[in-house]
Amino acid sequence: MMEQKKIAFIGAGNMASSIIGGLIQTGYDKANIIASDPSDENRAKITASFAIKTETDNAAAIAWADVVVLAVKPQIMAAVCEDIAARSAQLEQKLWVSIAAGVSIERFHGLLGSVPVVRTMPNTPALLGQGATGLFASEQVSSSDKTFAGELMSAVGVTTWVEQEAQINAVTAASGSGPAYFFLFMEAMQQAALELGLNEQQARALVQQTALGSAQMVINNPDLDLATLRANVTSKGGTTAEAIRTFMEQDLSTTVKQAMTAAADRGAEMEKLF
Ligand SMILES: NC(=O)c1ccc[n+]([C@@H]2O[C@H](COP(=O)([O-])OP(=O)(O)OC[C@H]3O[C@@H](n4cnc5c(N)ncnc54)[C@H](OP(=O)(O)O)[C@@H]3O)[C@@H](O)[C@H]2O)c1
Repeated sequence: MMEQKKIAFIGAGNMASSIIGGLIQTGYDKANIIASDPSDENRAKITASFAIKTETDNAAAIAWADVVVLAVKPQIMAAVCEDIAARSAQLEQKLWVSIAAGVSIERFHGLLGSVPVVRTMPNTPALLGQGATGLFASEQVSSSDKTFAGELMSAVGVTTWVEQEAQINAVTAASGSGPAYFFLFMEAMQQAALELGLNEQQARALVQQTALGSAQMVINNPDLDLATLRANVTSKGGTTAEAIRTFMEQDLSTTVKQAMTAAADRGAEMEKLF
């Protein structure tokens, strides 16, 4: 069971709701959670779903909390933090956890002072509790706060700590943007299946179950590397071998590497925007 601290979510949108839902599901005391959001609609949704406290004033929520989860869009993060810094005290005594893409620790320190910050990069399947999150802690974060932040994000899926902040851009390239790569690949498979004679419903059902089943096989075989798993289902001279040969001839791995490098580079550029 996680340590119980008072957590304030700043921004009660999709990602905050998922984390709150995940925390409550793991037995976290809802009396220790507050969500602050200017939108009446979002606060009403959060109250209806989880029966937690809500606020319209970020500073009031923060004053109450030990841990602040910054869950607003990156574009408004600076304005939100400037307002917090102007109206809140003892910021360095709280743990700050950001889930915003592209906002660096240096930027947070510029806005809030030298506070302990854990910068995280979740991905969209976190909305279903199936996320993959990378985390990086600033040097001010204690080991117990690091544990807490890790457990917080484990409420919506698996977590991995990185040693260097720049590696967050590799996390963005791998898991942050990753769901869209799989959607693209599945879309291409579905289209090809249609052209080979299946109907849309059949093509989608077969492709989505194949993606799910394949990921499950990878998860269930942690001691087998991916190349071995592939070799195990590729009989010499068979149908799969013909498909794999075609992918190799088209140099799929170079395309994937170029795409992920472009995503990581864009992540680094975005840190200069927010
Ligand atoms: N969704 C994902 O899959 C995903 C994945 C990775 C990272 N993230 C990150 O997670 C963060 C939240 O994303 P999201 O998808 O949850 O966005 P979202 O649903 O739009 O949630 C943001 C919430 O913040 C509220 N808000 C606006 N101004 C505020 C203020 N001054 N103080 C407090 N709350 C305010 C918004 O209200 P209004 O709607 O009224 O503006 C909205 O309810 C983003 O930084 C994003 O980069 C999201």
